[in-house]
Amino acid sequence: MITDIAHIAMNPLDMDKSIKFYTEVLGFKKVFELPHEDGTPWIIYLKINKGHFLEMFYGGTLDRDYAYDPKKVGYYHLCIDCGDIKAKAQELFEKGVLEAPVTGFERDKNPNLWIHDPDGNAIEFVEYQPDCIHFEELGTQGYELGGENYKGIAHAAFVVKDIDASMDFYCNHLGFKHIYTLNDENGNPWLNFLQVRPGVYLELFLNGEGENPASWTARGFTHVCLETDDLIGEVERLRAEGIEIDDEPKTSADKNWQAWIHDPDGNMIELMMIDPESPQALA
Ligand SMILES: [Fe+2]
Ligand SMILES: [Fe+2]
Repeated sequence: MITDIAHIAMNPLDMDKSIKFYTEVLGFKKVFELPHEDGTPWIIYLKINKGHFLEMFYGGTLDRDYAYDPKKVGYYHLCIDCGDIKAKAQELFEKGVLEAPVTGFERDKNPNLWIHDPDGNAIEFVEYQPDCIHFEELGTQGYELGGENYKGIAHAAFVVKDIDASMDFYCNHLGFKHIYTLNDENGNPWLNFLQVRPGVYLELFLNGEGENPASWTARGFTHVCLETDDLIGEVERLRAEGIEIDDEPKTSADKNWQAWIHDPDGNMIELMMIDPESPQALA
């Protein structure tokens, strides 16, 4: 069973600049680094909240000339639930990241705001309301209202080419629940909200164009990591259902078990079972 989004990974073009932005401006905590086997720098882990991380890889390249495009197939944005959106807007305005200390409203009735990181990646902040559409059917059980600086990753978002194929993959195989569909101004389906667990979602935007630029090195978001409590069981179940396993279960430098699959658009999905002694569990 998939229980959560564990982390979102990105390839900054300038690691120092991005780390400064995410720690000093956004207040994420740098918790640990992982080197390559030869000792050279590989990954810096930033903690958003307990159990939710941003994985920053060294060596980002300009293979892709844009950070994201809401029309093109592939990774779109990362959204963080910041608890108090008005306070966050004021803080980001004072830090010069927001032009005015005001928030917007998504059509799902949750107040939000948008900024860009040094690479141009879209970062959204939201304050999920207890009576919002997300919680209508399935409730807030398992969702911590209140808490630390951030409540954690609110959602990851993909623009998808074939919504039926993506819905089959994420709902029928990964077990996410379709919460609702938002329509555009013309009444056509625009966005599907899937629940990973209460408070953590995947947004699938319809009608993506072009080829997915997903890459291990191109700047921008590179993969989404999903947490599971039984990696081997999950992989065998997915294999039996006909899902291609790109990388078989193995332990990595952080002691966690991981395996890799991809969604119908070629987005790279890491599956991870967190070891209680891993730096993620201890952070
Ligand atoms: Fe969003
Ligand atoms: Fe990862």
